[in-house]
Amino acid sequence: MSKLLKINASLFSGNGQSSQLTERFVAAWQAGHPDTQVVERDLAANPVPHLDGTRFMAFVAKPEERSAEQQAVVDFSDALIAELRTADAIVIGLPMYNFGIPSQLKAYFDHIARAGVTFRYTANGPEGLITGKKAYILAARGGIYAGTPKDSQTAYVRDFLGFIGITDVEFIYAEGLNMGDESKNAALAKAHQSLAALTA
Ligand SMILES: Cc1cc2nc3c(=O)[nH]c(=O)nc-3n(C[C@H](O)[C@H](O)[C@H](O)COP(=O)(O)O)c2cc1C
Repeated sequence: MSKLLKINASLFSGNGQSSQLTERFVAAWQAGHPDTQVVERDLAANPVPHLDGTRFMAFVAKPEERSAEQQAVVDFSDALIAELRTADAIVIGLPMYNFGIPSQLKAYFDHIARAGVTFRYTANGPEGLITGKKAYILAARGGIYAGTPKDSQTAYVRDFLGFIGITDVEFIYAEGLNMGDESKNAALAKAHQSLAALTA
């Protein structure tokens, strides 16, 4: 049985446009891969705390010197990483908020970027340790940015995932969702087509 990890980052949980795309992706994926276990992570319903100094110091404390509070922080991060590590494929619903990724997703990224656990530094530079997975990013945007310098999300998400070893990353865009019904319907239809092609 393979495992598909679905991560929703919309403020609106399952009601977000990006979440509806991940939902559709999962349905199509399961139709083509019936032997799939789907694990869901909703970053709005179950937010990951922002990384602060206390939490970061827990990550870097020597295991034998961690306080109980620090161990709890590490256990939380370890659980997120285990969920990711055991997934064969990952689908992320990625809204654009104020020209960037949702802060909920950034907080999640900040908890899965762990030196010595998900990446390590070598003489040849950093090496990602979460390998052998494919990620699908379903990006929902009110405006239209893909392929322009204003699309800071695509390069950032690709760089971050690549840094921890997930280098096989595919993006699907639903753009112009706030530019009238015609634009929205066309964007969603195009995204649905791309999804169907990807999961066929
Ligand atoms: C707080 C907020 C900020 C937004 N900022 C942007 C933006 O900078 N650029 C953009 O194209 N759309 C922006 N939008 C529109 C969203 O990208 C669009 O509604 C998209 O559907 C969000 O994904 P979701 O429905 O999955 O939450 C914003 C929406 C919200 C709620």
